Amino acid sequence: MKIILLGPPGAGKGTQAAMLMERFGIPQISTGDMLRAAVQTQSSLGVKAKKIMDAGGLVPDDIVVGIVHDRLQFEDCQKGFILDGFPRTLAQADSLKQVLAELDKPLDAVVSLQVDIDALVARLTGRRTCVDCGKGFHLQYDPPTQDGLCSVCGGRLILRDDDREETIRNRMKIYQEQTAPLEDYYRAEGLLIDVDGMADISTVQQAIVMALSGSLS
Ligand code: AP5
Ligand code: MG
Repeated sequence: MKIILLGPPGAGKGTQAAMLMERFGIPQISTGDMLRAAVQTQSSLGVKAKKIMDAGGLVPDDIVVGIVHDRLQFEDCQKGFILDGFPRTLAQADSLKQVLAELDKPLDAVVSLQVDIDALVARLTGRRTCVDCGKGFHLQYDPPTQDGLCSVCGGRLILRDDDREETIRNRMKIYQEQTAPLEDYYRAEGLLIDVDGMADISTVQQAIVMALSGSLS
């Protein structure tokens, strides 16, 4: 299964991708996670990306397209993949189409998570992320077993640098301007599936699995 999870910041892409990865045994390819890993290593890409990410902007298309292109060649993508946070611009979507055509791996579906703006802000300000494994929690909606510690690896939970209110506002604006047009792009290709992302985490997961089984059958 080869799918894209589309949705604004805080829509639940990472949460749902991690669950789909377990369920279907295919990798989650998150450009946000890969860029944060580069930031941690303080590589030249990481230093450049950090400034942009902290401001809520988008990393240049050629950089993220290159990262995803390389990642898609890995053996674990043979059975499929879940793209989380990519593509984010029309140029990225066009590049992805070309790369997947070359690899003979056409997309099966694009799942678009629909969530109200007020809920998005509450999800992002209440999110806590593990410094070691990157898993996200929510203080209210998905709390860790032990306060301040990751339930998976025991790492320390922090507020992501871009989950501060002024940065969140800019991320939302950029989403509306640059990424939301992808809904029409994929609708025109007959790939878009709208899923109500306002329900609780497991209900949204069930809705995605149902929608995918319909689109794959
Ligand atoms: P990225 O890491 O992709 O961030 P994002 O798209 O802004 O999305 P988030 O990770 O914030 O939200 P999410 O949808 O994954 O929500 P989550 O599941 O965590 O990108 C970060 C930055 O990197 C970008 O701003 C950009 O600078 C750069 N970048 C990345 N990709 C790029 C690209 N392709 N091109 C250019 N630049 C790029 O859930 C959020 C919270 O809500 C969690 O606390 C969770 O527990 C909770 N939650 C989830 N689902 C529910 C639910 N159903 N009910 C209640 N709570 C829920
Ligand atoms: Mg995410």
